[in-house]
Amino acid sequence: MVHITRRERFSAAHKLAHPNWSNEKNHDTFGKCANPNWHGHNYNLWVTVKGEPEPLTGFVVDLSALGDVIKDKVIQHVDHKNLNLDVPFTKHLMTSTENLAIAIWNELENSVIKLGAELHCVKISETENNYVEYFG
Ligand code: NI
Repeated sequence: MVHITRRERFSAAHKLAHPNWSNEKNHDTFGKCANPNWHGHNYNLWVTVKGEPEPLTGFVVDLSALGDVIKDKVIQHVDHKNLNLDVPFTKHLMTSTENLAIAIWNELENSVIKLGAELHCVKISETENNYVEYFG
């Protein structure tokens, strides 16, 4: 079994705040991400898939095709968008990096199978010091 990873990047706005909490409680809980008038992050997204190398090509998956799937299913929907307002698969969520990783997994899982591989991990960083990994 071989694991192979494609990185894509996107920039998006969001806010972490409960509407029925005070600004102070939201700020205490979510820090800068509670800013009432939104803010953005430059996200890195790593998608790891697994499988056996195909004998004729030596590839687990065509990485260019995997990149196209990630762009089609995820990037075009989130890049330069507001995750809380614009994106069908995140707008009902508290848009933490954790929840984003789960939502992106759900968007990608079936399409990765169609490429002949299996989704292994969705990893996202919101800042350079923190990342989240979801393994399904
Ligand atoms: Ni934030």
